[in-house]
Amino acid sequence: MSPKSKNIFWQQTRISREDRETRRGHRGAVLWFTGLSGSGKSTLASRLEERLYREGYSTYILDGDNVRHGLNRDLGFSPEDRTENIRRVGEVAKLFADAGVLVATAFISPYREDRGQVRAILERDMDFVEIFVSCPLEVCEARDPKGLYKKARAGEIKGFTGIDAPYQEPEEAELVVETDRMDPDESVDVILGWLEARGYIRLHEKTE
Ligand code: ADX
Repeated sequence: MSPKSKNIFWQQTRISREDRETRRGHRGAVLWFTGLSGSGKSTLASRLEERLYREGYSTYILDGDNVRHGLNRDLGFSPEDRTENIRRVGEVAKLFADAGVLVATAFISPYREDRGQVRAILERDMDFVEIFVSCPLEVCEARDPKGLYKKARAGEIKGFTGIDAPYQEPEEAELVVETDRMDPDESVDVILGWLEARGYIRLHEKTE
């Protein structure tokens, strides 16, 4: 969608993304976790961030529940609002990548097209790493960390992802982690190994 405002001009800044990345010693990128509620997105994003941070990387996390307390507090869970949620988060994540930060995002982001839009607005191919946090609905429902599946089954929450709202699995995710088969540290090791093999990071502490 083109901007609503007229008479706006792109301002070129004097410090480039490359300058910022050189200063930080690594590239910026968006590590986009997607999956059902309770699949483990926030847990993995947060553990991954911790590992990267300890290795000296500039990191940040954008998490669905947190962002919905602030920037996106005007949005609900209708398909339109979820699309707008992901659009805004994608724009914010893009700014972090431009700042040379490795930003991990943890949003259900149930629609393939919305995730594809985020991929499309990013500057470089390597900027978007889609990580599908795969976990069967039954397992997420059994975990039910926030008691929301129970409420959704009882009809107290309408339009809950996986119950009466869709989740469209990624078809071309860069990475898939199956959290019903691996514990969180193993999943994080898989992601770190992938990032290292493709030149995003260079680890000091080796993952076993
Ligand atoms: S998204 O679909 O727009 O990407 P987002 O990740 O921001 O969702 O928020 C999901 C979180 O909101 C869930 O982890 C859950 O805690 C809470 N939530 C509340 N209502 C719903 C709902 N109807 N469907 C899914 N999650 C919900």
